[in-house]
Amino acid sequence: MQIDGHTRLAFLLGYPVGHSRSPAMQQAAFRATDLNAVYLPWAVSPAHLRGAVSGLRAMENLLGANVTVPHKEAVVPLLDRLTPDAEAAGAVNTIVPREGALVGDNTDGAGFLIALQDELAVEAADLHVVILGAGGAARAVAMSLARAGACALILANRTRERAERLAREVTSRVPGCRVSVERLHPRWRADASPETGVLVNTTSVGLRPTDPPLFDYESLASPLLVYDLIYHPPETPLVRAAARQGCRAVNGLGMLLHQGAFAFERWTGRPAPLAAMREALRG
Ligand code: ATR
Repeated sequence: MQIDGHTRLAFLLGYPVGHSRSPAMQQAAFRATDLNAVYLPWAVSPAHLRGAVSGLRAMENLLGANVTVPHKEAVVPLLDRLTPDAEAAGAVNTIVPREGALVGDNTDGAGFLIALQDELAVEAADLHVVILGAGGAARAVAMSLARAGACALILANRTRERAERLAREVTSRVPGCRVSVERLHPRWRADASPETGVLVNTTSVGLRPTDPPLFDYESLASPLLVYDLIYHPPETPLVRAAARQGCRAVNGLGMLLHQGAFAFERWTGRPAPLAAMREALRG
């Protein structure tokens, strides 16, 4: 990679950023498309987020930025405007410079929907989905499914009130989508609503191999499809349990790939080199 006076800059703002695979994935995309640009992890503590966004404004050669934990919601008021996707998600994972303004976008939901199609061969329209969790990731998934025509969502969360709050937000934005709430606990069963087509885990449970099961994994049964947003370890405890029960199950690497591909396209206006990006993620 040659850095010169024309090199464009892209950043990942997060805290920490050391674990992220986005730098490898986006740099591979720049290389594959011969783009004179670099993608750098930028560890920004919450106290310095405002200053970091001012720094982005000062960069006339800014290509764009990604935003990750814990800044996705906190960055919203620091930007000039939001896309409808970011507005619905209440969070930003992609910043796009446009004529001197910083536009907040969110490609997580769109990335999730493409991964669902790609890897589990299901369309959101008319789908019944159980979403485990009610945090920021659950919100992006729930909003994208509802806006894409999912017919019913069950939000199952350890803290019921949080799921109730998210349910109210989803129904106020997409009144046609039926949303119900359950409390998630170790004896919760996935087979209580037989019309459910897909179960999505958005909680952080499974990030550590020692995490106890999130619910009764023996209640998983085909043809239920399982999507775990966690991608490290690649065979998450939920993916392993689901496969043992005969369910098709995938980890969150596809969502990571496609949210990154959409971000690349928003910054550059070019189609994302998916094969190179996927290869970099695997590496
Ligand atoms: P994110 O923005 O990445 O979604 P978050 O807002 O911290 O992260 O949300 C984490 C989700 O994981 C929440 O739904 C949380 O449940 P609570 O709302 O009850 O806190 C869920 N979660 C975390 N640890 C959990 C555990 N041990 N068992 C069940 N759910 C858990």
